[in-house]
Amino acid sequence: MAETGNVALKEDDIRFDESGERLLYKALERFWHPVLYARELVEDKPVPATLLGEPLVVARLGGEARAFRDLCPHRGTAISLGWVEDDALRCAYHGWKFGSDGMCTEIPARFGTKIPGRARLTAYPTTEQAGMIWVCLSDEPELPVPQFPQYTDPAFRIVTVDSYDWNCALPRRIENYVDFAHFAWVHDGVLGDRNQPEVPDHGIDRVAGELRFDHPGMAEPPSSGKNKALDSGEPVEVKIDYRLFMPNTVLLDQWMPSLEQRYLLFFAVCPTGPKTCRSFTLMGRDYSFDERTDQEMLDFNALVIGQDLPLVQSQRPEELPMDLSAEIQIRGADRVAVEYRRWLREIAYA
Ligand code: FES
Ligand SMILES: [Fe+2]
Repeated sequence: MAETGNVALKEDDIRFDESGERLLYKALERFWHPVLYARELVEDKPVPATLLGEPLVVARLGGEARAFRDLCPHRGTAISLGWVEDDALRCAYHGWKFGSDGMCTEIPARFGTKIPGRARLTAYPTTEQAGMIWVCLSDEPELPVPQFPQYTDPAFRIVTVDSYDWNCALPRRIENYVDFAHFAWVHDGVLGDRNQPEVPDHGIDRVAGELRFDHPGMAEPPSSGKNKALDSGEPVEVKIDYRLFMPNTVLLDQWMPSLEQRYLLFFAVCPTGPKTCRSFTLMGRDYSFDERTDQEMLDFNALVIGQDLPLVQSQRPEELPMDLSAEIQIRGADRVAVEYRRWLREIAYA
């Protein structure tokens, strides 16, 4: 056992390995990641995206979302500069056509020529879930695609936040999202109260591919944007259940007992590169189904992420250290981070 801060670390937590962060980055290839909102995918246009440094082209072919390496095997041109035609992709340079399995079906400069077997796009497993297009760079994803059960439930109104890019590694972004101790400081008067900075004891468990934990109770300011529609003059007591689908997605389920209302966040992060990420957010609620409240939610979210942004982008290193003794862990307060980091280490060193 070793001490860092006042969390007793296991031997496995501090095994020093210079390449731990690189191993994790490589291991992320085995997981599903969101690369686009489904609403960004219109019928006749391929859309570029980046996943783990890999340029992708995403298109809807025959009604199904498909993702390929964004590279034409003929001359290395970006396929995303082309277009969708008859449920196939047409390269803009010499017009080669590729079917939904990636195979070339037409070489217009020599119709009838034998099409070489190498004339195909590299295809990746692709699926649609909760209004997002998810891609895995490996043919054998380690865990299922994260679920947002309320996405199609008419009892909830869902608002989609435009995706945004931050200069930090995916795990830094996720850890910030589930960090209880920062609410009082970064979001004073919005999500927390600087006069009540203590993090309550909370449980945390592994359930299948998820970390499950809760925040047993806190009081949110009634004037905070997300609570405006509630018309409550009092601080709003909330209880929050979290599901962290390893390694990149959080479903936050907030219950307001005095109002008997629920507020949800489905937050998924794409590792675009080793030190960059793109965040996707769906905001759900079972009250005030009007457009004014939609806008209040979006404004509220913009305020909160604007407060987090400079702090998270200032973190060094930009990657989350895989050695748990590299930063200081405080018992109770940093419990979620410690468990998240432990699991990431298992993924990195698997
Ligand atoms: S580069 Fe794509 S068809 Fe020639
Ligand atoms: Fe925050």
